[in-house]
Amino acid sequence: MEAVKSTELRKTFGDIIAVDSLNLHVSPGTIFGLLGPNGAGKSTTIRLLSTLLYPDSGTASVHYFDILEDPVAVRRITGVLPEEGNHTHYDSLSAYENLEYFAKLYDVSKDKIHTRIEELLNFMNLWDRKDDKAGELSTGNRQRLALCRALLHEPKVLLLDEPTSALDPIAAKRVRELILNLSKTYGQTFFINSHNLAEVQRICDQIAIINEGKILISGSTSELRATLQTEQEYRIRIIGDVDYAISIIEAEEFVESVEAEVDTIVAMIKNPIENNSILMKKLLDAGVQIVEFAEEETTLEDLYLQVVTGGDV
Ligand SMILES: Nc1ncnc2c1ncn2[C@@H]1O[C@H](COP(=O)(O)OP(=O)(O)O)[C@@H](O)[C@H]1O
Ligand SMILES: [Mg+2]
Repeated sequence: MEAVKSTELRKTFGDIIAVDSLNLHVSPGTIFGLLGPNGAGKSTTIRLLSTLLYPDSGTASVHYFDILEDPVAVRRITGVLPEEGNHTHYDSLSAYENLEYFAKLYDVSKDKIHTRIEELLNFMNLWDRKDDKAGELSTGNRQRLALCRALLHEPKVLLLDEPTSALDPIAAKRVRELILNLSKTYGQTFFINSHNLAEVQRICDQIAIINEGKILISGSTSELRATLQTEQEYRIRIIGDVDYAISIIEAEEFVESVEAEVDTIVAMIKNPIENNSILMKKLLDAGVQIVEFAEEETTLEDLYLQVVTGGDV
């Protein structure tokens, strides 16, 4: 069973197809990243999943509850961090009072409210700020308060729309650590919208790349690499005559490009699984002493550009 599932989910605004026949499958306990450029349909997807919007067609379920048949149950087991700017705190209430208000709204049992709020505010390093008015908190602290609110009723599934978009790098790192920490501690499912490739790469187990309302590709980071990657850059460090080594490397038709810096050669190799050993053998047979033959890291960014632009970078 999936913690989040959508079937041919579709939402239009006039002529704009914001979400186009979306089929998503997110396993329980996963940190899932929906990655895509601005306007790709990420926020609309979260609004549909959190029952704030009604789809034109198709449906979805969150923790096995259908968004159309059982929206109340969906809301009960889901914690939502809306897009930045849509945080619905009461500015004149303190951080604590805001959480108290929402805890009551979520039916958190009375004897648990205080402990729960204290636990969350401590978790987010916000306890010292508990008496500050929400409207006077820094953007980062507001975002963390919004996360507290999303977590108040111990939801099984968290839908987070660009959770670090408004944060400085240090605060963003804290939120990422928090998500990882929560996932490890409580095993909740996280559905995270992001246009930040590095972020998704750091914390997500599973990724789907969305553009113009459509999922272009999905899988684990390593699966995505394996699917997309037909060539890979290698760093070859040698002892001896670099020009001589380059002449051997260049001669191979499977070598796409070669560059050198002092004793290190960077070569782009097609079908590396087959061709690396051939190249290594050629170098060794020619008497070149190899000190290092290592894969240069391919970032998700490279793959993302390849997918979103159709390789037309
Ligand atoms: N309420 C709305 N009314 C009209 N168009 C909308 C509305 N919400 C989103 N859109 C449009 O739908 C598309 C997807 O938007 P959105 O889901 O916000 O993308 P993302 O979150 O990936 O940036 C965009 O073209 C956006 O302009
Ligand atoms: Mg958005």
